[in-house]
This record gives sequence, structure tokens and C-alpha cells, in this order.
Amino acid sequence: MKRDLFSLKNKVAIVTGGNQGIGKVVAGYLADAGADIVILDIQDASKTAEGIAEEYGVRTAAFTCDVTDPQAVDTCIKAAAEKMGTLDLLFNNAGICLHKDALLCTPEDWLKVINVNLNGIFFVAQAFGKYLTDHNKKGNIVNTASMSGTIVNIPQGQASYNASKAGVAHLTKSLAVEWADKGIRVNSISPGYIRTEMTGTVRQDWQDYWVSTIPFGRMGTPEELAGAVIYLLSDASTYTSGLDMLIDGCFTVV
Ligand SMILES: NC(=O)c1ccc[n+]([C@@H]2O[C@H](COP(=O)([O-])OP(=O)(O)OC[C@H]3O[C@@H](n4cnc5c(N)ncnc54)[C@H](O)[C@@H]3O)[C@@H](O)[C@H]2O)c1
Repeated sequence: MKRDLFSLKNKVAIVTGGNQGIGKVVAGYLADAGADIVILDIQDASKTAEGIAEEYGVRTAAFTCDVTDPQAVDTCIKAAAEKMGTLDLLFNNAGICLHKDALLCTPEDWLKVINVNLNGIFFVAQAFGKYLTDHNKKGNIVNTASMSGTIVNIPQGQASYNASKAGVAHLTKSLAVEWADKGIRVNSISPGYIRTEMTGTVRQDWQDYWVSTIPFGRMGTPEELAGAVIYLLSDASTYTSGLDMLIDGCFTVV
């Protein structure tokens, strides 16, 4: 029994933003821990889902869904539950970043980032929470916040992103308390700089500056987040909710 503490066998996990980057890698690790996987992404993630099914021998599904559209999110969650038979876990991870000084941000810029990163996280968590409570089920959510909700990154301006991620961390705590008596745990991870499609296209002098300020002397990889997500989604963390786990190579420690 003790061996299975981190097992996700017989669980169905939704991963938003699972077509690339952190979501795609973590989805593979969740599958390796035994979970069936449903990817919700604004891109068509069917190939990614098929790849995970082949590699790990689990059931998978993909739904094209914009997390900023609450109606679409609700429809996808219901369709996912019908297709997979049940839903248990949510890695609520889709997000975007905008490097633009606050003085130059248009209302559209601001609204877009807040919409995907904060409103989208809420819409998906709410639809998933409603599914669980409607079906009298316990469940478990990990939201992707960021160390940018704790510190202010430089040299780039990214006030909208930073504010959205601070919102995700506090939304996580709020939902954790509201849903504690329903058997739904809600935690977040706050990654530091991680090498993905999101950061890979940023100008090189900024990337070099970031690396020079990280005590570990390097950016992290999506693989280095997977263990934390498995821990928080599994029975290894049954007394943990409302936690925001910083995983940042010591960036926020200094
Ligand atoms: N890469 C980093 O350094 C870093 C650090 C801290 C936090 N994060 C957070 O981790 C999460 C994943 O980041 P990543 O680096 O893998 O980014 P990424 O750009 O590689 O992947 C993001 C995924 O989200 C999807 N997505 C974007 N908008 C969407 C929408 N409206 N609806 C549904 N899906 C949408 C994209 O299609 C993509 O598959 C984000 O929330 C990001 O803010 C990243």
C-alpha cells in the first residue's frame, strides 16, 4: 500500500494547456503515474493525446477549448466526463505571457492576459468543482501560478502577467477554504523560469540576464515540475490544500 502513495491509477486527469510546454510534459508524467488524460487546449491537441496513450498505455482524449469562454469550458468538462466515465483530477495550467511595459499596455493587452491566466483558471476550476459536487465526488486541483505572483521580474515589463499570477495563488487559497468540506483540495505550483515554447522565443539578452540571477545558474525544465504536481494530485498530500509551492531554483529565496 505504501508503495502506491503517489499512484494516480484509476483516476482521470484533465490538463489544460496540455498541447505543449509544461502541460504536455506533466501530462506524460501523470499518465506514467497511471492516470487517464484529457487535454483541453486552444490548439488541437489530438496528436499529443494519441502520443501519450501510445507511450503510457492509458486512455486519453483531447478537446479544443478556449479557457476564457465559460460556456465552452462547461461544455468540454461535461463532454470529457461523458467520454471518460468520470473526472478526478485537474492540472489547471493554460496561460500566456506578455512582455510589455505597463505604460504601453492597451486595455485589450491587459484584458487578454487577465482573461486567460486568471479568469480562465477560475472558469475551469469552477466547472470542474461543479462536476465534482453535482456527482458527490472528491477531487483535486493543481493550478499553475508563477513566481511572478511573488516577485517582480526584470528587466522586462510584465505587470499584467505578474498581477494575474498573484491572483491565481490567492484564488487557489480561496477555493481551498471554500471547498475544504467538500473533499476538494486546491493547490498551486509557482514555477520560476522554465525552458518551454513560452520562454524559448524571448530575446537572448533577457534570457542570459535571467540565468545570471538564478542561484541554480540555469532555467528549470518542465520535467522538474512533474513530481510536485503528482505529489499534490495524489494521496501523498491528503492534508495539504491552499499551498502555493515555489519551484524556482532558489530565485525567490535571495
Ligand atoms: N515557462 C515558464 O517559465 C513559466 C514560469 C512560470 C509559470 N508558467 C506558467 O506555466 C503555464 C504553462 O506555460 P508554458 O511555459 O508551458 O507555456 P506554453 O506557451 O509553452 O504552453 C501554454 C499552453 O496553453 C495553451 N493555451 C494558451 N491560451 C489558451 C487558452 N485561451 N485556452 C486554452 N489553452 C490555451 C497553449 O495553446 C499552450 O498549449 C502557464 O500558465 C505559464 O504562465 C510558465
